[in-house]
Amino acid sequence: MLLNQIEEAVEFIRSKHYVKPDAGIILGTGLGGLVNDIHITTTISYKDIPHFPVSTVESHEGKLIMGKLGGKEVIVMQGRFHYYEGYTMQQITFPVRVMHGLGIDKIFISNAAGGLNPNQKVSDLMILNDHINLLPEHPLRGKNEASLGPRFPDMSKAYDAEFIQLAKNIASKNSIRIHEGVYAAVQGPTLETKAEYKYISIIGADAVGMSTIPECIVARHMDMRVFAISVITDLGVEGSIKETSLEDVIQAASIAEPNLTLIIKELIALTC
Ligand code: HPA
Repeated sequence: MLLNQIEEAVEFIRSKHYVKPDAGIILGTGLGGLVNDIHITTTISYKDIPHFPVSTVESHEGKLIMGKLGGKEVIVMQGRFHYYEGYTMQQITFPVRVMHGLGIDKIFISNAAGGLNPNQKVSDLMILNDHINLLPEHPLRGKNEASLGPRFPDMSKAYDAEFIQLAKNIASKNSIRIHEGVYAAVQGPTLETKAEYKYISIIGADAVGMSTIPECIVARHMDMRVFAISVITDLGVEGSIKETSLEDVIQAASIAEPNLTLIIKELIALTC
């Protein structure tokens, strides 16, 4: 069932764009600007792709964009699916299965997140070096498809160490403030209470958001290499917590967006 659905989506995309992509990219809230740097050859609406869910959040455009970025063939998800929208974890992660089916073995993920580390400022970037999954459902729950990956995937190397090091080098070369840390995912759609921010910080997270972990898990299930980076759009640090709206998140993300684009673009040029 899942395999057939993946195959149908893959065949459809190949019929529109036959070039084998070098990398997959998932863009987070307010972080769609990377697309302006792509020499676009093909754009496909999610609604046209067999078995693809359709995006419901206004700030997310639901399009698959294909073309060249930094000399490499990329396939970009402009708009992703979140658990709070009502999708199942299998729906949320289906596009990652399809990217893998298209021959991609490296995925680059961005997101907007609340910062929990006192060293962070709004619009800073944080490279993920680990995660804590607080989402209430698991994308690998249910029958395991052995041809895709193992029943009990190892997660001790969830985020690729070489990608992290190279991204830090790129940031330092370009004088971009960068953090590295642990991302926790919650279901949302509410942002956290002060007590929840404190709790998530105490259990070991440096940032909190509502995405990325399902995609990372499914990518690692298929042994894809994963790079993920957060834009800190608001602070969950005691004393710095302010009321935050979606507009605030998008505004903070847009400030960081050029630096994020630069890092992902150079990283892809170096590794893909
Ligand atoms: N919490 C959860 N998700 C988020 C936040 C936050 O503070 N900011 C952006 N996404």
